[in-house]
Amino acid sequence: MSRVEFRVFATPAEVAEAAAEGFVAAARNAVAAHGQFVVALSGGRTPHMAYHLLRTAPVPWSQTHVFWGDDRAVPQDDPASNAGEARRALLDDMDGVTIHPMDCVALDLDAAARDAEAELRAVAGGPVPVLDLVWLGMGADGHTASLFPDSPALTETERLVVATTAPDGAARLTMTYPLLNAARQVTFLVTGADKAVALAGVQAGDPTLPATAIGAAQVTWLLDAATAR
Ligand code: 6PG
Repeated sequence: MSRVEFRVFATPAEVAEAAAEGFVAAARNAVAAHGQFVVALSGGRTPHMAYHLLRTAPVPWSQTHVFWGDDRAVPQDDPASNAGEARRALLDDMDGVTIHPMDCVALDLDAAARDAEAELRAVAGGPVPVLDLVWLGMGADGHTASLFPDSPALTETERLVVATTAPDGAARLTMTYPLLNAARQVTFLVTGADKAVALAGVQAGDPTLPATAIGAAQVTWLLDAATAR
């Protein structure tokens, strides 16, 4: 059974502050409980604000493994790269952290997805690795990670990571519900008035919105006032 909490803040900056605080707490609890912290980051602009706060936060980086819930099939030096952006804004300056970016430039993205699954199991066990924390965003269409409305990836029950495409046809890699919903904690970082309708739909249980089916043990929505209006 999933525990769901909605927290509303006046500004995106306050959302980022709450996200960074939650990241530190999850990291320290995980390391105390089982010696490591396994986290999956998302893309998007809201997490980016939290990255700068985490640069000076007391995170046990040397016991931290960073994965990504999704990424775009571009090189890490591309501004669209979720892994590249997190590395430039934070991770490349954090001593001791272990990062596990997906192989987004592989010619065979299905093989890259399988490799990502194997890497997750090597770090967090299996058959379904339990991530300590997953950060997710949500698009105005209710997508989360790269799980888009009407996508075949939504009905995947076996694979933990799959190759998929965004509505614009851009190739992506994404974690699937079996992996995301096995996480101890999911935190949504959602800001902007353009998300208000999708949020209301998720709160009403609209099954056509991919974010609705995220049901980890603890799901915390960090929202700004514009989204939660
Ligand atoms: C991606 C993200 C995606 C993002 C949402 C929200 O790779 O695009 O993972 O799921 O979280 O699109 O993005 P914003 O936070 O920028 O609105």
